[in-house]
Amino acid sequence: MSEISYAVGDRVEAVCGPVAHGGHVVARVPAGERQIVVFVRHALPGERVVVEITGVEKSFLRGDAVEVLDASPDRVTAPCPLAGPGLCGGCDFQHVALPAQRELKAAVVAEQLSRLAGLSREVTVEPVPGTVSYSRADGLRWRTRMQYVALPDGRRGLRRHHSHEVVPVDDCLLEASGARVVLDRSESSEATVTETVGPHSFEVAADGFWQVHPGAPPALVDAVLSVLAPRPGERVLDLYAGVGLFSAFLADAVGPGGSVLAVEGDRRAASLAVTNLAGRASVETGRVDRVLARRHEKADLVVLDPPREGAKRAVVEAVVATGPRAVAYVACDPAALARDVAIFAEHGYELTSLRAFDLFPMTHHVECVALLVPSSGDPAGSGPR
Ligand SMILES: C[S@@+](CC[C@H](N)C(=O)[O-])C[C@H]1O[C@@H](n2cnc3c(N)ncnc32)[C@H](O)[C@@H]1O
Repeated sequence: MSEISYAVGDRVEAVCGPVAHGGHVVARVPAGERQIVVFVRHALPGERVVVEITGVEKSFLRGDAVEVLDASPDRVTAPCPLAGPGLCGGCDFQHVALPAQRELKAAVVAEQLSRLAGLSREVTVEPVPGTVSYSRADGLRWRTRMQYVALPDGRRGLRRHHSHEVVPVDDCLLEASGARVVLDRSESSEATVTETVGPHSFEVAADGFWQVHPGAPPALVDAVLSVLAPRPGERVLDLYAGVGLFSAFLADAVGPGGSVLAVEGDRRAASLAVTNLAGRASVETGRVDRVLARRHEKADLVVLDPPREGAKRAVVEAVVATGPRAVAYVACDPAALARDVAIFAEHGYELTSLRAFDLFPMTHHVECVALLVPSSGDPAGSGPR
């Protein structure tokens, strides 16, 4: 007999516990003589809610809060009518006041570091201003790039959570005016757009990677430069370099006596990086693990900005082998960051600084910039080369 006596569609009352990674809170509901964990979306810690079961896994359930019996003081009415149980899967925190969204994200980052890397840290999630034309304090209209699904009737939509089903969306409240819109049915295009950050311009494929919040590139560049404190003449590796955002600023900082090598796996992005960097940094196209294994680089500084799954062991170990005095790790997934931080620790690199940025208001997503330095060595910026 299965231990779990719930089926999709069942409803059960629950008192919600802490927030968990992935945009839900943890609750426990009776299952025979025991209790079983249910990860509940659209709820807040401390709330008493009616949970509708949306998924039955081997050892836990998934659910949606379809009725709130005791509301948290942090609960607000979602500004978008499509945000909520069973509707658009794009936003999962619209029912939470903006400052409380940041507190939830901070709790998740701290919990992941504690559980996966054994580190105890106070985390604050910093709001990020947009550019003047996007400066809104309500957490809406900040997305400068949107990918919709084209619907047969000519409308466009976004998918439901954990589903291929598409919800028609006529006015996504996150989309900023003038956003680059991509329809996933559209032909892949050769088009590029120009993005400007400080003194530098970047050609980016219209459907290629670029941060979606207008305040993200300057905030991340500033955070990376300030933790690494690059010095003239240093050798820098910019791994997962995209179209060369960090490389451009790192090349300025290390000057003509230094060097920057940008490594990027996507051919189109790498070729745009060559154009964007115009000889001020070298660009190598290829997978980071393979490029590092082939080149046996030595580096003073490394920037690591991997996709959601993180850098993982082979890359972390190859980075350590380059002997850097400091590594700036830019992370869009705190669990992957924490797992990689634990691998760095095995190799004598410790986390000495962590900043977290609210680059994705109304969603559970959060971006971190972590500094890792050799434990026995000097803090970044003060040691011998
Ligand atoms: C989070 S984006 C960062 C891009 C860039 N640093 C920026 O800020 O614009 C990650 C980048 O890594 C690239 N990428 C993903 N897996 C890779 C791999 N195994 N090796 C090299 N590049 C990879 C993607 O194409 C993407 O450009």
